[in-house]
Amino acid sequence: MQKTTVLFVDDDPSCLAAIRRLLLPMRRYWDLHFAGSGREALQFLRHNPCDVIVTDMKMPEMDGATLLNKTIEIQPDMVRIMLSGHSEKQRIMDAIGPMHQFLAKPCPAEKLISTINRTVALRRIVKNEKLKGVVSKLESIPSLPELYTELSAEINSPDASLSRVAKIVARDPGMTAKILQIINSAYFGLPKRVQNIQQAVNLLGMEIISALVLNTQIFSEFKIRDSKTFSSESLWQHNINVALTAKAIAGEAGCSRDVQDQAFMGGMLHDVGKLILQTTFRDEYDEVILAAAEAETSLWQAELQYFDASHTEVGAYLLGLWGLSDEIIEIVAYHHLPGYGYNTDFNALTAVHIANSLDAEVNKIYPLVRSCGLDKEYLDSLSIDSEYERWQQIYQQVTGNEYSGEAKNPHR
Ligand SMILES: [Fe+2]
Ligand SMILES: [Fe+2]
Repeated sequence: MQKTTVLFVDDDPSCLAAIRRLLLPMRRYWDLHFAGSGREALQFLRHNPCDVIVTDMKMPEMDGATLLNKTIEIQPDMVRIMLSGHSEKQRIMDAIGPMHQFLAKPCPAEKLISTINRTVALRRIVKNEKLKGVVSKLESIPSLPELYTELSAEINSPDASLSRVAKIVARDPGMTAKILQIINSAYFGLPKRVQNIQQAVNLLGMEIISALVLNTQIFSEFKIRDSKTFSSESLWQHNINVALTAKAIAGEAGCSRDVQDQAFMGGMLHDVGKLILQTTFRDEYDEVILAAAEAETSLWQAELQYFDASHTEVGAYLLGLWGLSDEIIEIVAYHHLPGYGYNTDFNALTAVHIANSLDAEVNKIYPLVRSCGLDKEYLDSLSIDSEYERWQQIYQQVTGNEYSGEAKNPHR
């Protein structure tokens, strides 16, 4: 396999020496290079293609943010990582832009290694040559909805406020009406009718509201046409069932609030690639569905055969362009093959994988096609094999759906 080239930049020679020592075990997989200043780094990059740059922020002459901005002109595809004190995170994220990483100093070796491996692997997915065939057929790639951009800026700001989030959504009356309609539907099982966005944000939190806003905008952006094999309403219902179930399963597994929110957002967006494929290829996509039914394979496998890319990669590609977080891109990319994810413990991807397979048994979006099951090997590796009945109960509770699937406990 091709080695990953990584350039480390720090004006403190003892820091570079420490990194060199820490990363010795990675020499088989990585080509490591070191530079003592921004100028030296830029000189190196003009002649050597690089996958990743990791730089310190505070350096004399040229600081890390300036250096990273200059590298965009030389090697725009490189993953840019900043190592710095935590207090500067927001200022630095503004400077280096989305899709890139900030790591707080001091950074343990495992964290540095896993961050580099994960970001490089995700870049490879979204830069996959095979995807180009699909992507070149898209008439236009929609841009990240503005309302969502504003919401996430507010949510990520150090003094984020629930009422400002509510005000941003409330400026769009159409969106407000839709969000209230969703929240008051049976899905959320709220005891009292929610009258306005402020109440909704207080009740559900800003992350949930922003995930609903993004998904609603995506559905209206991709003007999907129902066909003889598909209805967009059932895909919408699937997304929301998976989001709610994944969040609840992550909570049950003891995951943090952040991870539960990622599970919700990831659940909402995991099949976004289907919307793209379906609107781009329309009639051909119907053929893919029929081919999957005939061959008794799952839909994503049939997509791979037909388009050389499945909805997982296409979706990850779009969300990568939009600068969504690596955790969300990873969920979209690997929800059918969670073993490829970078976490080896229970995380948001695990929860979405489980929730997706539960809902696929009940709410058949493509009635003709075999639903994709759980990845037994992966779940075994997490040693959580006794939870299957509990997940079914959770699914029933949050969706109100009777679990009637012929699903078998994969562990029996
Ligand atoms: Fe999927
Ligand atoms: Fe799905």
